[in-house]
Amino acid sequence: MILRRYSRRAVMCGTLGVVAVATLFGRSLLTAKEANADPSPDRFDFKEIAAGVDLTHHVAEGYKAHHLLRWGDKLFPDAPDFDPLKQTAAAQLRQFGYNNDYIAYFPLDGSSGHGLLCINHEYTNEELMFPSLTERQDTTGFKGMTEELVNIEMAAHGVAVVEIVRNGEDWAVVLDSPYNRRISPLTPMAVDGPAAGDPRLKTKGDASGEALVGTLNNCAGGTTPWGTYLTAEENFHAYFWTDQRDSEGKPAKGIGGAEAESYQLYGVPGLWQAWGKFHDRFNVDKEPNEPNRFGWVVEIDPSDPTSRPVKHTALGRFCHEGAETVLNRDGRVVVYCGDDTRGEYVYRFVTEGRYDPDNRDANKTLLSSGRLYAARFDADGSGRWLPLVFGEPLLTPEFGFRSEADVMIDARRAGDLLGATRMDRPEDVQPNPVNGKVYINLTNNDKRKADQVDSANPRPNNVFGHIIELAPKEADHAADTFTWDILVRCGNPHDPRGGVDAWWNPATSDQGWFASPDNACVDDKGRLWIATDQGDNWARTGRADGLYGLETEGDRRGTSKMFFRVPVGAEMCGPCFTPDRETLFVAVQHPGADGTESLYGFGQPSTYKNPATRWPDFSEDLPPRPSVMVITKMGGGKIA
Ligand code: FEO
Ligand code: CA
Ligand code: CA
Repeated sequence: MILRRYSRRAVMCGTLGVVAVATLFGRSLLTAKEANADPSPDRFDFKEIAAGVDLTHHVAEGYKAHHLLRWGDKLFPDAPDFDPLKQTAAAQLRQFGYNNDYIAYFPLDGSSGHGLLCINHEYTNEELMFPSLTERQDTTGFKGMTEELVNIEMAAHGVAVVEIVRNGEDWAVVLDSPYNRRISPLTPMAVDGPAAGDPRLKTKGDASGEALVGTLNNCAGGTTPWGTYLTAEENFHAYFWTDQRDSEGKPAKGIGGAEAESYQLYGVPGLWQAWGKFHDRFNVDKEPNEPNRFGWVVEIDPSDPTSRPVKHTALGRFCHEGAETVLNRDGRVVVYCGDDTRGEYVYRFVTEGRYDPDNRDANKTLLSSGRLYAARFDADGSGRWLPLVFGEPLLTPEFGFRSEADVMIDARRAGDLLGATRMDRPEDVQPNPVNGKVYINLTNNDKRKADQVDSANPRPNNVFGHIIELAPKEADHAADTFTWDILVRCGNPHDPRGGVDAWWNPATSDQGWFASPDNACVDDKGRLWIATDQGDNWARTGRADGLYGLETEGDRRGTSKMFFRVPVGAEMCGPCFTPDRETLFVAVQHPGADGTESLYGFGQPSTYKNPATRWPDFSEDLPPRPSVMVITKMGGGKIA
């Protein structure tokens, strides 16, 4: 059974089983299998690339990859050409933003060769963007950051909507498209759901609590069955400032007045950015409620460039990683979300209404009302979705919740009270419509102690992360219960230093294993693709981040192969296929940024003047640029 299925339950069911079975059978069986195996056919038809790290990207043999959109590329005919020495906020708002993350492709007229690409711009690396800065800014003072630089940073955040068209094996941007759009921290937003207009969303600038401005830290996202784009606001706490500091320059304890407990829960103010130094909105001393206006899932209709994006407060407020949807068989729409912070929860939202293929306008209100749940994973491999509903036990005024708005704004505290399972940083939560399962990428948690492990987060000091496969009861995504299994425990299965305790199907080669799963997508054949983000930890695995095909079925379940690799210091984001699977879009985020102190022959932090790589232009006049890449098969055909 262990040999054939490599199942978590076979290997580690129950507390005794964790130690006993793994010790007795784990390694020796893996070795035995390695010796004789070639189980079922490999469903991923490509030759894996070598793991490693260098200054550029790599793609599997027989494929070509070229950049479609780089930071600073024009999105409109009147946009200025990119010149990093003369960059302005006004120019940046007409150009492609920084740190591209999630990507979605919306076909025009059903075409796989002509469509709209929506791309998140998550954050900025000021030391790589601005010639005037010689180092990463210290987050207590930001001495080098001027108002002008902050305004450029703000303009480089948000979302881009871009019309693109295929010409043979290449793709091009349609510059004069009426669809092209930049959404930023300055764009007016609508808000709906329980927290719309709530007193906790009211500010000096907006007495209604309904005229929100801007989106930021747009990390992963999702698409809806009615063709809209969902963008997830992740580390929103990072953007808030205070002048109330302790002796080390950190935010003073207990600030925030009525919001003090909520600030503590969400890490507000995070002081990662200098925006609040110049914009009162981001200074919590002046606008204590502004942080409550971020941390939501935002819906954007790419087909209408004049439409106002909508923040859906019914999906809860936390560090939203993504928002992948699935159309349940009863017509309700289910959105899966992760809260990417150590010890936070996996969530699910189920709409109240049902999808109507003939009424797009009605569908666009589906995310306005429904029920939010947090996941509890039990040791016997079962699990339960715990509803976050005001007035139910523990979510009452006695426990500090005055309304459903409070439950949504402080969803983390509701999850705490209900006993949801504290996870190792939930990133993408990816439903697979072909096999009916859901894949949860847990990227890492090096703070989990030995006495804090549980069956769903079984490794203390979990540096390399793991992936959980969740099976809704009777394939009903709205059911209250599910079963679950650990698909892989990431990291080097043969680490000579020991202690990693990684699990892969032994058919995985030394090139194929990965660490820190982050984004995911499922292709038209129901195959799972995983993008990684190790941060500085690439130095511990000796391999840059990349995109991997990960088998979930049959004898090869748990086998991984590397398809694409990013340049040094970058993270892999946004895998997205066209419907015909002849084009794959990937996002290379922050090239040259992470862990370059460990790069042999470089050995120092990257800066604008001296970056570890100048990918993708390799021009002495240009810094590295985050870029969306297009991957096609040479001579045409389906990918993998
Ligand atoms: Fe923005 Fe959790 O990655
Ligand atoms: Ca991510
Ligand atoms: Ca995804």
